[in-house]
Amino acid sequence: MPVIEMRGIKREYRMETKSSKSKKNKAADVVIVRALRGVDFFAEEGEFISVMGPSGSGKSTMMNILGCLDKPSGGTYSLDGIETSSSDSDTFAYIRNIKIGFVFQSFNLLARTTALENVELPLFYRRDKTMDNVKRKEAAIKALKEVGLEGRMDHFPSQLSGGQQQRVAIARAMVNDPAFILADEPTGNLDTGMTLEIMGLFQQLNKLGKTIIMVTHEPELAVYTKRIITLRDGMLVSDKTVEDRRNAQDDLAQWNKEHVLLADSA
Ligand SMILES: Nc1ncnc2c1ncn2[C@@H]1O[C@H](COP(=O)(O)OP(=O)(O)O)[C@@H](O)[C@H]1O
Ligand SMILES: [Mg+2]
Repeated sequence: MPVIEMRGIKREYRMETKSSKSKKNKAADVVIVRALRGVDFFAEEGEFISVMGPSGSGKSTMMNILGCLDKPSGGTYSLDGIETSSSDSDTFAYIRNIKIGFVFQSFNLLARTTALENVELPLFYRRDKTMDNVKRKEAAIKALKEVGLEGRMDHFPSQLSGGQQQRVAIARAMVNDPAFILADEPTGNLDTGMTLEIMGLFQQLNKLGKTIIMVTHEPELAVYTKRIITLRDGMLVSDKTVEDRRNAQDDLAQWNKEHVLLADSA
């Protein structure tokens, strides 16, 4: 069973232009923007997919629908076997909280909360009565270990580097063992070294079986994923397997080498 099954997904935005106050030609002043025009998209467990496309092609719209933040105007979207389009708003929010792990460009960590507490947060959404404080803490510690931050659990976000903050966010995304991780330009605020570090972490997590979908406009990051889908004008125009996938840990080692050399010769 695919993790994601999207069939004929459409999303139209209705926009009223300023002059629609004049009653005479009201109909003519409503513009329908067709942000997605019938997208079919399937993803299996264990995939690592980039969503690419130029500005305005529909990436954010697609991401919002994938992440159950928005419902399509047409088509069906089934996540982990659950049909989302027809679910009521409570179920829709529940699916979002339990089935999807979000990673954003800006990390979105709570500032006055430790790394450990940030990672524990999503566990409060679970309708699971056996999930007590001890189990929550255990699960959060496990997730922080998986991203290599066991030594920083009591740190506040301001005491962590950008790369480390994004690791906390990735641990938070994984703590509920979601059906997939949805990352939106996850390295947009990071320098080259930290970017390679995060891509290496994603590759490592994917190797362990995590399903990852990453929206990016950078082709040099997409080469670390396994499959690239490209949107254009609200249509899925290309779906390709990455042939020469790069290894981010190797690239990071190389980058560090060059960096050290530069520092030496300076
Ligand atoms: N809330 C909205 N209201 C009206 N039009 C929108 C809205 N959101 C997006 N659009 C339009 O839908 C199209 C796709 O936008 P978007 O999904 O943000 O593309 P991308 O993320 O690839 O830049 C664009 O033409 C954009 O102007
Ligand atoms: Mg966008």
